[in-house]
Amino acid sequence: QAALPAGYTARALRPSDYDAGFLDCLRVLTTVGEISKEAFTERYDWMAKNDSYYLLVIEDSSSGKPVIVGTGALIVERKFIHSLGLVGHIEDIAVAKDQQGKKLGLRLIQALDFVAEKVGCYKTILDCSEANEGFYVKCGFRRAGLEMAHYY
Ligand code: ACO
Repeated sequence: QAALPAGYTARALRPSDYDAGFLDCLRVLTTVGEISKEAFTERYDWMAKNDSYYLLVIEDSSSGKPVIVGTGALIVERKFIHSLGLVGHIEDIAVAKDQQGKKLGLRLIQALDFVAEKVGCYKTILDCSEANEGFYVKCGFRRAGLEMAHYY
């Protein structure tokens, strides 16, 4: 397992991360939109009640005010097939631009993978761009299948 740099912590997302730059961290991934604290908290509470969502963050506390510099999610899907099998879905991995290349992404994937295995998933899958394939190969994943999407 990769170690985190000094002053960095990996932990579960908390409501107060709204004020520590959690949404800004996600902005390196895609459009996030303007989300009020109330709307954020409502979605957080829904996810927290649902035992299928595992949202991790990496916090940098090395300079006084804590800042969220990385995040990633694992969603556990419950199936009928494979004897009521569980499948892990890794989603929304983001490392702040100025923090990339410090193995934070690798650390996030390792942590989410660990949770998936521990809760009993028989596999974990994710979608990514061609540009990120090398990163996920380094994390132990391999190309399997083809993604299709229908946007509304
Ligand atoms: N292609 C090939 N190799 C890569 C890439 C890449 N795009 N990115 C990192 N690597 C390699 C690193 O060089 C390193 O290799 P090494 O062990 O030989 O030194 C290894 O992968 C681990 O890299 P990290 O330092 O852990 O990567 P980082 O912390 O920068 O995180 C990430 C990678 C998450 C892709 C980051 O660049 C990022 O946030 N990008 C923008 C958002 C994004 O694209 N997120 C992923 C979307 S897919 C999804 O969410 C399921």
